[in-house]
Amino acid sequence: MELVTYPHPALLRKTRPITVEEATSAELQARVEEMREIMHQSDGVGLAAPQVAWSVRLLLISPAGTRESDELLLNPVIKARRGKVVGEEGCLSFPGIYVQVERAREIDVEFLDDQGQIRRETRKDFAARVIQHELDHLENILLLHRMSPADRVRVKRDLEALSQSSD
Ligand code: NI
Repeated sequence: MELVTYPHPALLRKTRPITVEEATSAELQARVEEMREIMHQSDGVGLAAPQVAWSVRLLLISPAGTRESDELLLNPVIKARRGKVVGEEGCLSFPGIYVQVERAREIDVEFLDDQGQIRRETRKDFAARVIQHELDHLENILLLHRMSPADRVRVKRDLEALSQSSD
C-alpha cells in the first residue's frame, strides 16, 4: 500500500461500499493499520482509501494528529450540515498545496464502525472539516475541484509541477 498523489488515476476511481462482513474482518484491520502508518508518517490528520489506491468507502481521521485520536469511518454519509466556515486545507495527495475551502461548521455523520455497528455522530469545526475533506475523496472530488478561482491561479505552477513529477 502506498500513498498516491495527484494526478494518479486511483484518486478518480469509483468507490464501493464496505460490507458488514468486511468491516469486522482481519484483512480490513490489517489494511487500516497500514493506512494509519502512512497517515501518521506523513503527518496527516486524515486519509481516505482512494489515496492508497483502494477504491472503497473508507476513511481514517485523526483530527488531533495522535494515534489515540484515530477514528475509522466506513460508508460515511453526512445526514445534516449546519453553518458555513472558510478555512485552509491541505491534502496528502497534493503535497505543499494549501487552499481556502468553505465547509459546513457542524455535521451529523452516519457510518459503520469496525464492530459492524451503525453510528451517528455530530462533529464540528476542525473534525467536521477533516471528515468533509476525506468524504470528498470517496466521491472523487479533490482539492483541485474545491479551490476558488483565485487559488487556482495562485497554485497553478505547483499543480503543474506535481503533474510533471509523476510522469
Ligand atoms: Ni485529501
